Amino acid sequence: MEPDSTFATGSSGAAKTVDDDTGRRALMLIDLPNLSRVGDQLWQRYGTPDKLDNARRLAKLTAACAERIDAFPWRIVLEPGNLCNLHCKECPTHESDLPKGLLDPADIETYLQDLWPHLVQVNLFNWGEPVLNPRLPEIIEIIHRRDVGTQVHANMNRFPEALMGRVIDSGLDFLVASIDGVSETAYAGYRVGGSAKQSLENLERFVKLRDARGTSTPKIVWRFLCFPHTLDEIDQARRLAADIGVDDFALGEGFLDGRIWTSDGPKSYVDNPSEQPVPYCNDLFDFPVIHWDGTVLPCCYVADRRFIWGDLRQSSWMDIFNRAAFREARRLVAGDTSIECPCRGCFKIPKLVQLSVSGEAHEVAAPV
Ligand SMILES: C[S@@+](CC[C@H](N)C(=O)[O-])C[C@H]1O[C@@H](n2cnc3c(N)ncnc32)[C@H](O)[C@@H]1O
Ligand code: SF4
Ligand code: SF4
Repeated sequence: MEPDSTFATGSSGAAKTVDDDTGRRALMLIDLPNLSRVGDQLWQRYGTPDKLDNARRLAKLTAACAERIDAFPWRIVLEPGNLCNLHCKECPTHESDLPKGLLDPADIETYLQDLWPHLVQVNLFNWGEPVLNPRLPEIIEIIHRRDVGTQVHANMNRFPEALMGRVIDSGLDFLVASIDGVSETAYAGYRVGGSAKQSLENLERFVKLRDARGTSTPKIVWRFLCFPHTLDEIDQARRLAADIGVDDFALGEGFLDGRIWTSDGPKSYVDNPSEQPVPYCNDLFDFPVIHWDGTVLPCCYVADRRFIWGDLRQSSWMDIFNRAAFREARRLVAGDTSIECPCRGCFKIPKLVQLSVSGEAHEVAAPV
């Protein structure tokens, strides 16, 4: 799952004027690496010089593959829940042995107490359908009141109109509709149990409701995953997106059966590791995942209770993020091939490190 991959601006170092009514924000140089288009826009709205100082420090630690991270993340995943109405082919939601549930808005303060001053972007989705949490609007409101940006990705199959209205009014910045196909046949090639017609009708209803309010937020994006069975429908989907009136139509890389698909076909580095474009995984350093119950796992690719590496109901952010399990995984990414952890064999770490996949569990590390 690479939610922002197709939004990558590829631009860094461009001067941005950040102005709001209060004049509180100054001219900033957004020079963060791999800044997605969503991230870029959220920095315009929610960035401050202090947040940027911290983010730059974090970028340096990430680039150095530092074992200890003493800067705070400026973007996180906060899971609204891990329940879903669909059974997409690669999604671990239903097979995962992680406890099932929904984020209670009352817990957000506990989970994010150390992170608020540094946050710019909260992705309100992990594996699971965010709009199945009826309290999603309250969750967004709490984060919005803290002057932090939010983004939701949703399959849009089950989205009551009353909830749509409350989501639009909550201060959400981006609503990304995950709809991979126009025909039911193409759609069902990945989104098992869902309906293209239903999700497209809900997308159209959401656009109309937002426009009727005369507001330009949330920005509405139709994100279409590339799979071998969806490539033929990209042009049709793009035209339909314009008819529906979404703000953006984006292609996403689809992971299926051990291949990563782009609009040009499978990515070559799956077969030719030397062409791997990602130098190493940054998730362990700068893009953490907080589950609905406050537990912290290495990243969104890991959905296994053996790899719960911390719990924000019991420990502080810095304690969890610098425990032995995180530090060892970072050492693996930095090239220490002796380390056993779930990252071994992952496509996001240097191939040099992917010498063998032991399949053994790395026990939950005790706090240090
Ligand atoms: C796991 S989903 C959860 C949110 C919501 N249920 C949905 O499907 O959009 C988050 C993001 O992962 C993307 N995603 C799901 N399966 C994927 C796959 N096999 N390859 C790449 N991205 C995937 C979705 O399209 C969405 O953008
Ligand atoms: S809709 Fe999203 S969460 Fe649900 S099964 Fe599909 S990818 Fe997973
Ligand atoms: S290297 Fe580890 S943390 Fe990074 S994506 Fe892979 S499994 Fe997740």
